Amino acid sequence: MLPPPPPRQSFPDGDAAIRSTDDDAAHARVSAVRKGYLKDPYIQYLVPRLHLIPTRPPLINIGTYVRSEVIDKLMVKWLDLLDESSQAQIVSLGAGSDSRFWRFTDLPPKAKIVKWIEIDFPEIVAKKALAVRKHSKLSEAVGPDLAIEKGGTVLRSSVFNILAVDLRGEPSEALQPLEVLLSDGQPVLLLAECVFPYMSPETSAAIIRWFTERYSRVSIISYDMFGLGDAFGKVMRENLQIRNIELPGVDDNPTRQSLEHRLHGCGLSETNSVTLKNARAACFPGPEVDRISGLERLDEVEELDLVLGHYSITWGSKDETGAAARWRVE
Ligand SMILES: C[S@@+](CC[C@H](N)C(=O)[O-])C[C@H]1O[C@@H](n2cnc3c(N)ncnc32)[C@H](O)[C@@H]1O
Repeated sequence: MLPPPPPRQSFPDGDAAIRSTDDDAAHARVSAVRKGYLKDPYIQYLVPRLHLIPTRPPLINIGTYVRSEVIDKLMVKWLDLLDESSQAQIVSLGAGSDSRFWRFTDLPPKAKIVKWIEIDFPEIVAKKALAVRKHSKLSEAVGPDLAIEKGGTVLRSSVFNILAVDLRGEPSEALQPLEVLLSDGQPVLLLAECVFPYMSPETSAAIIRWFTERYSRVSIISYDMFGLGDAFGKVMRENLQIRNIELPGVDDNPTRQSLEHRLHGCGLSETNSVTLKNARAACFPGPEVDRISGLERLDEVEELDLVLGHYSITWGSKDETGAAARWRVE
């Protein structure tokens, strides 16, 4: 979502600034949970000092809600479309403090998920591994074979794994640890929720291609900004630049369709996308729309549409079962 107004910060390196975007995402989620938009019984264990996190404006809460719910709906749909014998493998790139693994353990489709692998910078992995070690609500879901290694920068278990990897590295080296964890022939779902904007288009394309060239059944759900060439985009970039954050991955994305083209260029044949603005209008049943609109007074409807119109959830598949063609969120 749109970053919060910038207190000037200085980071020792650009990567610390990129890592700080995990706090933005996690704090926005905390706020959306606090105001009743989302249910997340696990975030309290993953984000420290919850009581000090300020509640975000309605616009941020609504955006966080739409993004989170639509990605969840797509993942459930993807799992539902797999046949009984399929064993789902989820790879979350730039997972940060995301609680989705635990939220999905509470859902029936969990039975089909045999691997859940998260990737982020070592500092973020260490923070999450520490939280898992500390809180039984997290560690019990991971299972009895939980092991935390390499100074806390690797978390392993038979299902859930977190790896410290800089995704900008040459994929043949950076992603090599995945080869022993993933089985070919079984479906792989890549989740890239607001991570590709922080790397060059060539880098994100090389990552996606690494998967599509190695595995026969690959799907992806990606969440990105686009169309930042306008006045809104200029302000957004300026706010981020004050925090030393650049968005090299966004320049190639003038439109929502360009995000789908990126996937086509990386070997994914079935693609689709929806802006958060359109998803808010089309992807929720009436009673849920009523519930959400009763949570907070929203004065800035035009501003909300402007902001949500710059974010897209894009998805696609390389899946010979043809399931991808039926993979719709509405
Ligand atoms: C905006 S946060 C999103 C976190 C999470 N996906 C979510 O949506 O809640 C971006 C995440 O990507 C990670 N990230 C960005 N560039 C990365 C890179 N080159 N290698 C590994 N992780 C990266 C950051 O550390 C951060 O945790």
